[in-house]
Amino acid sequence: MSSKGRPAPSAAHAAVVIPAAGRGVRLGPGAPKALRTLGGTPMLIHAVRAMAASRHVALVVVVAPSDGVAEVRSLLDSHALPERTDFLVVPGGETRQESVRLGLEALPAGHEVVLVHDAARPLVPVDTVDAVIETVRDGAPAVVPALPLADTVKEVEPAAVDGEPEPVVATPARARLRAVQTPQGFDRTALLRAHKEVDGEVTDDASMVERLGLRVVTVPGHEEAFKVTRPLDLVLAEAVLARRRRNDGF
Ligand code: CTP
Ligand code: MG
Repeated sequence: MSSKGRPAPSAAHAAVVIPAAGRGVRLGPGAPKALRTLGGTPMLIHAVRAMAASRHVALVVVVAPSDGVAEVRSLLDSHALPERTDFLVVPGGETRQESVRLGLEALPAGHEVVLVHDAARPLVPVDTVDAVIETVRDGAPAVVPALPLADTVKEVEPAAVDGEPEPVVATPARARLRAVQTPQGFDRTALLRAHKEVDGEVTDDASMVERLGLRVVTVPGHEEAFKVTRPLDLVLAEAVLARRRRNDGF
């Protein structure tokens, strides 16, 4: 931990697990999604820097594609992080959930606040990261950044064949719905328990803590924390980066 001669971080400092082991199938053929570049820099490096921008973050655990651990390690070695931030790289699994669990297993003792952040959300602003950490420190076992929806959402009976009409089953009131982002923040004990006790398919970590019956709360998310999923998202991400460079030489 003190490989650079720094004092050990206190328990108050957060650790972040960054699942980055996905292939990025929806983005189309190419390198694993986290290694594709935005503004010339790999998406993963943007995501790690976004976390390390918070002075409350002392450790970043990157969960790499299982055949890409050495490559990710050398990428991180060649892109400077703040002095206060250490990193670890571990191989990921078949699903996001498994990759997060493998990241959690690599966590050293001493971080009471643990964040989970998608490598595919490279542009989240530091204020969102800090708001999540502060709300966990204030006593919430799980915290998610969330935004109101622009689209109305329908629940359907999914068709067996893609493109076939699907019967609509319900329309939840949009005003009560939120789209949730990462980083999601947790009391370490609650998150570890959730990953140990909850099974079944989930699409985020907070829902596992919900299933334990613990309180999950939202804080305001940010439109720049969107997930790069499809090709058009790359266009948007490049535009956001270009705007930042114009505005503040970022
Ligand atoms: N992820 C992971 N391990 C997996 C699958 C996903 O670590 N086995 C990570 C991705 O690298 C990403 C995050 O989970 O940072 C969110 O997943 P998603 O956006 O779905 O990324 P991919 O799974 O890579 O994309 P796709 O589903 O289009 O293949
Ligand atoms: Mg995926």
